[in-house]
Amino acid sequence: MTQRPRRLRSNAHIRALARQTRLSASALVYPLFVRDGGGVREPIPSMEGQRRYSADTLCEAAERAMERGVNKFLLFGVPDYKDEAGSGAYAKDGAVQRGVRALKARFGGDIYVITDVCMCEYTSHGHCGILRAGAVDNDATLECLARAAVSQAEAGADMVAPSDMMDGRVGFIRRALDSAGFADTLIMAYSAKYASAFYGPFREAAGSAPAFGDRKSYQMDWHNRKEAAKEILLDIAEGADIVMVKPAISYLDVISDAARISNVPVAAYSVSGEYAMIKAAAGQGLIDEHKIICETAVSIFRAGAEILISYYAPEIAGAIASGEIG
Ligand code: PBG
Repeated sequence: MTQRPRRLRSNAHIRALARQTRLSASALVYPLFVRDGGGVREPIPSMEGQRRYSADTLCEAAERAMERGVNKFLLFGVPDYKDEAGSGAYAKDGAVQRGVRALKARFGGDIYVITDVCMCEYTSHGHCGILRAGAVDNDATLECLARAAVSQAEAGADMVAPSDMMDGRVGFIRRALDSAGFADTLIMAYSAKYASAFYGPFREAAGSAPAFGDRKSYQMDWHNRKEAAKEILLDIAEGADIVMVKPAISYLDVISDAARISNVPVAAYSVSGEYAMIKAAAGQGLIDEHKIICETAVSIFRAGAEILISYYAPEIAGAIASGEIG
């Protein structure tokens, strides 16, 4: 018997038929930044091509993405007001809460809205939780996260996504949502979130860089692989509906492990630094932006992700629609 692997590569039809990774625009989530006020369309210098919007202009941005086939969004708040306790995270008229209401009023059931649950955008010190003696107090933070999640659910969020990495937050938020009458609001847990330098451009976009120290006491050490499995299994046991690995392209091994051990869908977040690297290299004429977008997106799904959160979601949807990938 002659083994001829190239038979499966001989023309476009057989290559398409033999593809081992299939993509769909229904698996894409597009992150958007929401500010207070109105009429905001502020370019984000660290993330060329992305903008901060207010609730009204957010609807226009969402509509453009929906025309390109993406109808799921992850909202991050960029509030004008910050304090030690991050109280803006659960303000009834906070940027995210207003943004969700506007999207739901405009698009109803045609749109799916996920909201980030974290304190770092709302605290004056930029840490993801409440400080006690200069360190993040895990249990005091849980109360705030739960309040934020409930206020987002009240605004109409379909799913909340805690990104803080406090211990026990998924179970705590689940109980708070259930007892507030939001048993059907889902939780996507940032389960394996590494203490990564790839978040640099986001911190400028969201104004959430820590004023002192770093996030190493709560985010994961990127030397560790099996620890991700521990976090993922804990979050599933606490009630996570979807688990996430973040960042994506330097963490394909972790995504692959997650796909094997998880009995809930696995999401990967291709973060701001991944986006900014591609933009910068393409801007210099060093790489073909579109081809790199396609190749990196496919690699993340090939590793085992079932959901991709990406600032390139509309471009990826376009490549799927044209048959270039997927
Ligand atoms: C908030 C949060 C961060 C990101 C998502 N949620 C920043 C951080 O942890 O410092 C990063 C997303 C990105 O880089 O695109 N905790």
